[in-house]
Amino acid sequence: MDRIVVRGGGPLKGEIAISGAKNACLALMPATLLSDEPLTLTNAPRLSDIRTMSLLLESLGAEISTMQNGKVIAMSSHSAQNHIAKYDIVRKMRASNLVLGPLLARHGHAVVSLPGGCAIGARPMDLHVSALEAMGAQIELRDGYLHAQAPRGLRGAQIALRFASVGATENIVMAASLAKGVTVLSNAAREPEIVDLVECLRRMGAQIEGEGTDTITIQGVDRLHGATHPVIADRIETGTYMLAPAIAGGEVELIGGRMDLLGAFCEKLDACGIDVSETPKGLRVKRRNGRVDAVNVVTEVFPGFPTDLQAQIMAVMCTANGVSFLEERIFENRFMHAPELIRMGARIDVHGGVAKVTGVEKLRGAPVMATDLRASVSLILAALAAEGETVVSRVYHLDRGYERVVDKLRGVGARIERVKEDG
Ligand code: EPZ
Repeated sequence: MDRIVVRGGGPLKGEIAISGAKNACLALMPATLLSDEPLTLTNAPRLSDIRTMSLLLESLGAEISTMQNGKVIAMSSHSAQNHIAKYDIVRKMRASNLVLGPLLARHGHAVVSLPGGCAIGARPMDLHVSALEAMGAQIELRDGYLHAQAPRGLRGAQIALRFASVGATENIVMAASLAKGVTVLSNAAREPEIVDLVECLRRMGAQIEGEGTDTITIQGVDRLHGATHPVIADRIETGTYMLAPAIAGGEVELIGGRMDLLGAFCEKLDACGIDVSETPKGLRVKRRNGRVDAVNVVTEVFPGFPTDLQAQIMAVMCTANGVSFLEERIFENRFMHAPELIRMGARIDVHGGVAKVTGVEKLRGAPVMATDLRASVSLILAALAAEGETVVSRVYHLDRGYERVVDKLRGVGARIERVKEDG
């Protein structure tokens, strides 16, 4: 397994190009199952999760070709007749569950493995299942698979989500696009990736309103046609790289970064002493003083502070001026980066869903282990300003969600390299 070696250094300077959003692309790709005409995505990120989704869709019979070194993904499910999403692919990536709604809507049946838990939590699917049942599906859990039938097709329904689940919202919106009648989804997730999915479905002929608000109305249509759609910029990658100068100092420009996708996150940056300004090419980010100030964070659904940026801001708070309290309200086990940061000299006390971080002057480089996607990048952020060398192992977690992270950080002066592990 490869490792990433970082030597703490001085301030960063230069440009980082932001890629298309992983979590938008993973919802857009299953939309190909809704039509027998080609769906092409541009500005797609080159990530292992995207390759996993391609494998899953091909296992369902979709034809997928990529161009421009993976940045363009052309898909056709014209002859896709298989409706079984197998465990050996689904277990690698929870987002595989996003084929459930489209398969049901298009073919009237689907057999999708439950994803199983992952490092950050149990990841149940009760909200997906109960909503699809409200639309007329019969769904049974057997041998670890959801066996779903809708022999007479799906019908529109009034659905109120107990929790504004991103994946459940995406499955419901895709399924409802081809259902008979109108679906009104309340307490819908408002994330920008939902807005991007709806914009793509609308290009395919779907009739949907309210995306980005907590109530989405979908008027089902008989069929959807093909389309070409650009994947929205990755707000989590943007937020991650905004924190690089926060911890290491300097000033970077994030090309393609968008302030409007970052909700409460930007307010927090301002509060801890980071200046963010919009430029014609994206966002310029600069640390105001020699050290950021501690701030408290509570993770919430969009437009609140994103759970996917909690590990990264924790790394920054480790060398902040003061004490910060970070409360994780979305997932039950998303502090696995804390013990690794402690190995680097951080002072972190975790009690239940709250991490108390007492800022120290400097972290010290150490061998650390990546445990999940966002935890792994928080270790790299911490290493940028740590004294000495940090070696991050199990970097395959990083490859799931950060395209060319070593090149992008080297491009702004970080002393970082990837070491191929033999064997
Ligand atoms: C999406 O996951 C993202 N993944 C996650 O990003 C992100 O952390 C999450 O939304 C929250 O923003 C993709 O978009 C591919 P949820 P998703 O359904 O859809 C509970 C990353 O790092 N829940 O909003 O799975 C669930 O257990 C990944 O890029 C139920 O209880 O998230 C969790 O506690 C990690 N029942 C909470 O809701 C359900 O049926 C959030 O889940 C569904 C969810």
